[in-house]
Amino acid sequence: MSQSFDIVVFGATSFVGQILCRHLFQRHGASGGEVRWAMAGRSRGKLERVRQALGAGAGDIPLLLANADDETALTTMCQQTRVVISTVGPYALYGSELVRICAETGTDYCDLTGEVQWIRRMIDANEAAAKRSGARIVHCCGFDSVPSDLGLRFFQQEAQNRFGAPLERVKMRVKAARGGFSGGTVASLMNVVKEAKQDPALRKQLANPHLLCPPDAQRGARQPNVTFAEYDEDARSWVAPFVMAAINTRVVHRSNAIAGFPYGREFAYDEAMMTGISSKGRVMAMSVSLGLAGFMAASVLPPSRWVLERFVVPKPGEGPTPKEQEQGFFDIRFYGQSPDGELLITKVTGDRDPGYGSTGKMLGEAGACLALDIPENTAGGFWTPATLLGDAFAERLREHAGLTFEVVSG
Ligand SMILES: NC(=O)c1ccc[n+]([C@@H]2O[C@H](COP(=O)([O-])OP(=O)(O)OC[C@H]3O[C@@H](n4cnc5c(N)ncnc54)[C@H](OP(=O)(O)O)[C@@H]3O)[C@@H](O)[C@H]2O)c1
Repeated sequence: MSQSFDIVVFGATSFVGQILCRHLFQRHGASGGEVRWAMAGRSRGKLERVRQALGAGAGDIPLLLANADDETALTTMCQQTRVVISTVGPYALYGSELVRICAETGTDYCDLTGEVQWIRRMIDANEAAAKRSGARIVHCCGFDSVPSDLGLRFFQQEAQNRFGAPLERVKMRVKAARGGFSGGTVASLMNVVKEAKQDPALRKQLANPHLLCPPDAQRGARQPNVTFAEYDEDARSWVAPFVMAAINTRVVHRSNAIAGFPYGREFAYDEAMMTGISSKGRVMAMSVSLGLAGFMAASVLPPSRWVLERFVVPKPGEGPTPKEQEQGFFDIRFYGQSPDGELLITKVTGDRDPGYGSTGKMLGEAGACLALDIPENTAGGFWTPATLLGDAFAERLREHAGLTFEVVSG
């Protein structure tokens, strides 16, 4: 079927959706460029305001209307495009109907979710339909989990070149990052905490590092996990728990499993934040560990949760200012030792704040990659950024999204 659009951005009015639309507009113009795209959402007035804010010439970007629970409108939207990019979250609350319809209509789909419990539900409910229809579904196309998933892929390609085989134990360490959170991200995080509080079985599921692997691969090597301040000899730094590790580790294990275990069946991987080598680094690692534990505890208890939502965290639609996005960046490192004890270090960097400035560009390039680079006959189903988009995506990220992938030493 020939569709009117390559990409429709559903949730064009969200905080991150607006950054993404700006990126698509700067890259591809309003219409008739390499990528034919449209903006979609539930409110025409808000869509018009967001489109107008993009500047001269943006008035030609087509607008589509759909509410997240309107099956007819979502189906009509899907029938008009090759790819839907969704930023409508929390996805566990508003995203399920769209994924079901994409899977059934054969529409390719990518998003920014980091809600692993919801991804598991979506795979279980829709994978058969996606395989039948040919829809390629790719969750986690933002800071969670593109730098981890593609960064690890790059690291393992280097390990293969240098040592003749990938390494079975790899660590990702966040060396430096500057950025903030938006209301949508905080709402998604808090929704996971709320669901987990009500459901012991879900808490057990969330603790499984192989949760997103196919059912016959949901067991694997015991996984390392930084849960409190510790000293890391390879990184030569104190490290603390990293808030996104619980998402990224699940995604990279799915990549390994669905690609047939290129990193090994006993592959072990963890993520943490570096806080420095001195005693100051140790104190910082302890503070980060305690702060994170305190935030999680406060999100569970209704009174403190109310205080957090009301006074502390950003509300839906809020997030880092344009200046904060511009001044933001990230630098993450991958460490692994060859069987002969040789240390390989690689890095991935981004030139904007991780969660928004960089994420908006990553998601836009993921959508364009899905629409233009992936052969039509590639199988439908639930993929990951590294397994489906791979090298073509990495190239787009380098060229158009301000990311670098480099060897540091080895
Ligand atoms: N993985 C990452 O690195 C990463 C980074 C950033 C964000 N995220 C995720 O991305 C999502 C968006 O975050 P955000 O802060 O940009 O969100 P936000 O500003 O709160 O925006 C939410 C969006 O959802 C739309 N929406 C809500 N209910 C809807 C409904 N019933 N029908 C249609 N649209 C509906 C809103 O439309 P209106 O404008 O009309 O209200 C708005 O466009 C969140 O889930 C967040 O966790 C992930």
